[in-house]
Amino acid sequence: MHILSLRLHDFRSYRQVMLSPPKGATVFVGENGAGKTNLLEAVHLCCLGRSHRTSADKEMIREGQETAAVQVKVQREDGVDEVGVRLYSPAAHKRKVLYINGKTASRTGELMGHVTCVMFSPEDLDIVRGAPQGRRRFLDMLLSQCGKGYFYALQQYNNALKQRNALLHEIVRGASAATLDAWDEQLCTAAVPVVKARQYAVQKLTGYAQEHYAHIGGRAQEQFSLRYEGHLAESLQPAEDLLKLLHERRQEDIRRATTTAGPHRDDLFLSLSGRDARAFASQGQMRTAVLSMRLAELDMLKNRSGEAPLLLLDDVLSELDGGRRTRLLERIAGVQTLLTCTDLSDLADAKPEAVLRVQGGEITEAHG
Ligand SMILES: Nc1ncnc2c1ncn2[C@@H]1O[C@H](COP(=O)(O)OP(=O)(O)OP(=O)(O)O)[C@@H](O)[C@H]1O
Ligand SMILES: [Mg+2]
Repeated sequence: MHILSLRLHDFRSYRQVMLSPPKGATVFVGENGAGKTNLLEAVHLCCLGRSHRTSADKEMIREGQETAAVQVKVQREDGVDEVGVRLYSPAAHKRKVLYINGKTASRTGELMGHVTCVMFSPEDLDIVRGAPQGRRRFLDMLLSQCGKGYFYALQQYNNALKQRNALLHEIVRGASAATLDAWDEQLCTAAVPVVKARQYAVQKLTGYAQEHYAHIGGRAQEQFSLRYEGHLAESLQPAEDLLKLLHERRQEDIRRATTTAGPHRDDLFLSLSGRDARAFASQGQMRTAVLSMRLAELDMLKNRSGEAPLLLLDDVLSELDGGRRTRLLERIAGVQTLLTCTDLSDLADAKPEAVLRVQGGEITEAHG
């Protein structure tokens, strides 16, 4: 797919913007704080209903304004798709409104799969070196964009988990444990689609990511791979296996007033040449690893819908050495890509279709 138009209204540092980037690569160049990432964030908001860097929607409303709006219209092979998001400041007492092809949608899940994107940002290094939560989020975002089914399944699981944890709290305070069985059943049923989708995704991702790593890294002897880790990672009957676990751990769960087993504890094990990438990989290797995971995400989304998602590369080029940069740009040929950089020299000999300068809330053609 490619963007026909991107409109921002009172979004972050922008009062009003309308862009129609060309099909290939567009580079946004500007100083630190110029508003480059803000543009990519706007696209991400339309794809997933949320920012990639904050969970506080109000931060995205231009200072002093009550409301912000973003709209993106894309050309897909099967037609035009248009999604929009309007945000309101808390003072307005209104909920965020989503628009899909001119109609309002009541739930965030409805957005999924319309306009899809893969975002690579500098914070992504945390996927490798940070807590498991970041790796779960990586999987969850990817699977949600594959279709709303996963998004709703995860929501259902999280709701069941919340209820079970609330009940555990009450049991600690003396309530009866009689209804726990019912919540165990609910949790186990809800866990099934989440676990199965993650098992499938990781198996696909590891093949793609391995190939990308070898190509971009340019060293055949470095093998990168992903493995699904968790109580049910290998389970063929996740509902039955989780139920067993919950029974075994019931006393501990009650003592700790929290659910200690289930997909909310899952992790991805990332390995480089057979060793834990978290401890073993250099900064540059970690960056290449995450980039490979993002490109693998792109492959999955593409295979799922037959349509390449939009690729958003924030501040990637300056962090890669020349060879890696060239091989990355070769890889993404044919995918509409929005890139940011602070200096045109980061482009080296790359030839993007458009170079736009971001300055003072305005976007203009850059010359030289
Ligand atoms: N809600 C808002 N209202 C007005 N301005 C905002 C808002 N949120 C952020 N900004 C401004 O946007 C700018 C940051 O934009 P952005 O993160 O896109 O910069 P950038 O060009 O990506 O910079 P860097 O090169 O450092 O990554 C800051 O100057 C900040 O003051
Ligand atoms: Mg930035």
